[in-house]
Amino acid sequence: MSKAQPPGIDRILFTQEQIEARIKEVAAEISERYRGRSLKLIGVLKGSVFFLCALARHIEIPVKIDFLAISNFAPHKAGPGIVRIAKDLDEPIEGEDVLVVEDIVDTGFTLRYLLQTLAGRGPNSLGICTLLDRTSRRIVQVPVEFRCFEIGDHFVVGCGLDYKQLYRNLEYLAVLKPDQSMS
Ligand code: IMP
Ligand code: MG
Repeated sequence: MSKAQPPGIDRILFTQEQIEARIKEVAAEISERYRGRSLKLIGVLKGSVFFLCALARHIEIPVKIDFLAISNFAPHKAGPGIVRIAKDLDEPIEGEDVLVVEDIVDTGFTLRYLLQTLAGRGPNSLGICTLLDRTSRRIVQVPVEFRCFEIGDHFVVGCGLDYKQLYRNLEYLAVLKPDQSMS
């Protein structure tokens, strides 16, 4: 039995079935790309946790996981925030094939900062895999190798994505009612 739809939800964008099917496809692409090697998945807390778990289960090559958390302080809502690492990885990544797993790539500022920081630690390769990509709002270009869904300019919750820390546990991806969100 799925949970009742919370009151703030406007409409469902992708169902649990659609998301699981797409994650399976992307996991197959990843397994193929890194065949014969092992892969370290780095989850960006907290939004990517649900996606990372689902993805990792379907990847067929040996996988390690680690997590980091970033804090994004935006002095002006419209402009770029100041990104910094609030919780670092537990292990080094030198010489490893690394895939950063994100919930959504929006302006690109978070990932640009993360890629620059992680590249300095000498991984063998460094890629990005995201559940959602909103290219229409991109300000800085980042190379997204694997994406599940491209979305339009609406605020989305569920599958790890939150609004004020709520809705992360929805099995589907949904658009919030307009009065709830968006700058
Ligand atoms: P970026 O630095 O603008 O690419 O920011 C990406 C981060 O903003 C994501 O990792 C999310 O934490 C957050 N974010 C952006 N759009 C949404 C959304 O529609 N729902 C929930 N969180 C979002
Ligand atoms: Mg995030």
